[in-house]
Amino acid sequence: MDPAATEATVQTMTANHPDSPGGIAQPRRVTIPSLRAMKLRGERIAMVTAYDATFARMLDEAGADMLLVGDSLGMVVQGLDSTLPVTVDEMIYHCRAVARGTRRALVVGDMPFMSFQLSAEQALKNAGRFLSEGGAQAVKLEGGLDAAETIRRIVAVGIPVVGHVGLLPQSVHAMGGFRVQGKTARAAQAVLEDARAVAEAGASAIVLEGIPSDLAERISAEIDIPTIGIGAGAACDGQVLVCYDLLGLTPSLRPKFVKRYAEFFDLGRAAARQYCEEVKRGEFPSEAHAFGNVQLEEPSSVPAPGSYGPTH
Ligand code: KIV
Repeated sequence: MDPAATEATVQTMTANHPDSPGGIAQPRRVTIPSLRAMKLRGERIAMVTAYDATFARMLDEAGADMLLVGDSLGMVVQGLDSTLPVTVDEMIYHCRAVARGTRRALVVGDMPFMSFQLSAEQALKNAGRFLSEGGAQAVKLEGGLDAAETIRRIVAVGIPVVGHVGLLPQSVHAMGGFRVQGKTARAAQAVLEDARAVAEAGASAIVLEGIPSDLAERISAEIDIPTIGIGAGAACDGQVLVCYDLLGLTPSLRPKFVKRYAEFFDLGRAAARQYCEEVKRGEFPSEAHAFGNVQLEEPSSVPAPGSYGPTH
């Protein structure tokens, strides 16, 4: 049996073991070697983006194997029309929050535009910050042949890298918009060579974005690291979606590759509307949400701790 597959089997056996600290079942953290083992076993990898601790907790408990703190936060959290203005400091801030909310998933921090292209020194310094300050276990960066040497340098100092080829949102202007890549034989060959270069440079996994399904299938069969698809068909070793898209929080965006599993925006608006109406009608807070009246005598017992709760 392949050593990586054996290691993952041991992990699965010890996961949720009742002998875990305090007798409480602790989910086993997904690791870089376990991703490779999942590919070998043919077990699909579920990756999703997260930008804060509460969403991270929800997605982690849902069973996500990898949480990507994507620079897509520029668009879905900050309201920008591209990811280009997002800074390393902003990414690290969100990474820290996601890491705090995560118990099982492997947290990947996305290196934003121009945070790794200037020099090897710049790339190493910023990649390191994602682990030491952001609490991530790996970084992701966009690029193929052009990024291979940078990936090699980052991997050499012990920082796991997830590559990203095909449609590159940070190259939106060079690509003339968010367009499917690799559609002609020549363009497909270029994407294939990019993926090979990323794998040979030592990346632990690779995102394939916005490419034809048959090309993604060929890449997934040829390279030995897991491929994580977005708009790249079903043959990838895993899938990634932006959490706001899959939860229906981006009402005006309906790209073909997104499946919406819920309509959180509509639900949230309806709930908030009900709250506003109840406040205006004087129905909220009711007795059930209030602390009663001032007592005329000192209470004989100390009030139960935590009866007020955090105010957020
Ligand atoms: O930033 C992001 O969310 C991404 C994924 C869409 C792959 O790069």
